Amino acid sequence: MAPDPHRGAAAGTPLTLLYFGDTQNKNVSLGTRVLREAMRQAPDARLALFAGDLVSGGDGEDDTEWGEWFEAGGALPTSMVVAPAAGNHEYFEEFEDTPRERRVLGPHWPLQFALPGNGVAGAGSTTYWFDYQDVRVVVLDGTSALDLGTAQAQAGWLDVVLAASPARWNIVVVHQPFHSPRAARDNVLLRKHLLPVIRRRHVDLVLQGHDHVYARRSGEDGGDTPVFVVSVAGPKQYRLSTGAHTRMAPVGEDTQLFQVLRVDGPNLRYEARTATGHLYDAFELVREGAATRRVELAEGRIAPRTCGRAKTLKGRADRCWE
Ligand SMILES: [Fe+2]
Repeated sequence: MAPDPHRGAAAGTPLTLLYFGDTQNKNVSLGTRVLREAMRQAPDARLALFAGDLVSGGDGEDDTEWGEWFEAGGALPTSMVVAPAAGNHEYFEEFEDTPRERRVLGPHWPLQFALPGNGVAGAGSTTYWFDYQDVRVVVLDGTSALDLGTAQAQAGWLDVVLAASPARWNIVVVHQPFHSPRAARDNVLLRKHLLPVIRRRHVDLVLQGHDHVYARRSGEDGGDTPVFVVSVAGPKQYRLSTGAHTRMAPVGEDTQLFQVLRVDGPNLRYEARTATGHLYDAFELVREGAATRRVELAEGRIAPRTCGRAKTLKGRADRCWE
């Protein structure tokens, strides 16, 4: 089902929604169990947000990957609203390895998802917003911002969309993280143009992917919000940077995860769970007047997980694939 700009039950009705970081690889053999466990943990979920990189092969190159993605989802994409961000793998390189090389959105994207079409000029099919009960969800296109020069335009659009939000909770979804937890990645343009808007408009939660690890942090000023989450649903796993180990908590490697968010009036409860349903991370945001307090929920969490393989200088041996 497609997200409509205004849908769901009346405002004030409790809402359960799901979030999935990159699914990307082996969707049927190893992605299915994550989506299935999410539905088992939250059978009342009405909305599913996806970080992008739903498939891997450079969108348009391999139609069977999209077939796999829908097969892996089973009843999920036909029983609840699905709102995906576009990742870099939804793009392909036109004129690759020539001076004219550029990223182009693959032909599958506009056909797979009927999105609201209310995005910013220049990234109209990959940016959008909608309200679902007490939540405004704004989806950005990090690839377009970083590689196609739309960061400033997206920031201006985001500012207008958030300023007009009547919702109690505001969630932003973007594929590339504002604060990358992976070594040698730094999305400077996102922080330069979009982060000031995220902070000024008091976004509660920023849901991200791309780095194939788990990492959570809050704002640079130590405030309780916005909460920035990087997660991965699929089996492809990378390593955390040294900085992520010191500036983010909890973090995780080598772990397929999904998120369950329960929104009920002034409370937003967040859980990250493993493919087998174990609790990996949890907190609650509590709205108190104009302020938002974050309450850590440490009880029942399993121990932080890291890749057990010996580190290598580079290459796939260092990635902790499944
Ligand atoms: Fe990515």
